[in-house]
Amino acid sequence: MTTGTQAYGESWYWDNRYTNEPGPFDWYQKYITLSPIINLYVPTNQSILVVGSGNSAFSEGMVDEGGYMDVVNIDISSVVIDAMQNKYQDRPQLKYMKMDVRDMSAFESESFGSVIDKGTLDSILCGNNSRQNATKMLEEIWRVLKDKGVYILVTYGAPLYRLRLLRDSCSWSIKLHVIEKLASEEKSDDPIWELTKPIPLNNDGSSVDETLGPNPDVHYIYICTKEISAN
Ligand SMILES: C[S@@+](CC[C@H](N)C(=O)[O-])C[C@H]1O[C@@H](n2cnc3c(N)ncnc32)[C@H](O)[C@@H]1O
Repeated sequence: MTTGTQAYGESWYWDNRYTNEPGPFDWYQKYITLSPIINLYVPTNQSILVVGSGNSAFSEGMVDEGGYMDVVNIDISSVVIDAMQNKYQDRPQLKYMKMDVRDMSAFESESFGSVIDKGTLDSILCGNNSRQNATKMLEEIWRVLKDKGVYILVTYGAPLYRLRLLRDSCSWSIKLHVIEKLASEEKSDDPIWELTKPIPLNNDGSSVDETLGPNPDVHYIYICTKEISAN
């Protein structure tokens, strides 16, 4: 039986949740708090793919505040995709498609300049066959990215748990940023670490604990660049 957070990898769970909670709701962080990082790594004229977009207002923020022109959103829940298609029918910059991130065969290889994931790898890692599903997801993201394209992973997963998974899947070159969990829309006077400055990252990620101390109260933002030549 699938129980609790294990169900986060299942479409029926999300269909039920989005039927009962139409939102909008953003997991972890909103566009406004992450916009400095998005602006740093994602040019506005690129095609961008948001995987597991849910009913989050993040993509709307990218278009309305960030000036992004082409943001394609996919989710495994048909309930949320129907609702978002309806909500944004007059916004040509925002497209919504029902799709499983583990099988994006509807997209040609090298279709997108950037892929953004806020909470979707984390959900898949909660479910059954998590390691296998996460690998399929990461390989598909790699495939649809252009060479030198970036996969931006926003997660609660510390480097100890995420670096090995990322490195075992594909030849990413990886940078790490952090943002305080309770980052408010006002800029903090004393952030634990400057958002746009990458954290020193060694092979096993232990340098992050050395820099921030153990168990810092942050969300991690992995910037994974596709390096075809290194694969
Ligand atoms: C934790 S929510 C995050 C939603 C949104 N990205 C945000 O930041 O608010 C995870 C989302 O991933 C979607 N999801 C789960 N498994 C998926 C899969 N295999 N393919 C596509 N989307 C999936 C869920 O339907 C849900 O909308």
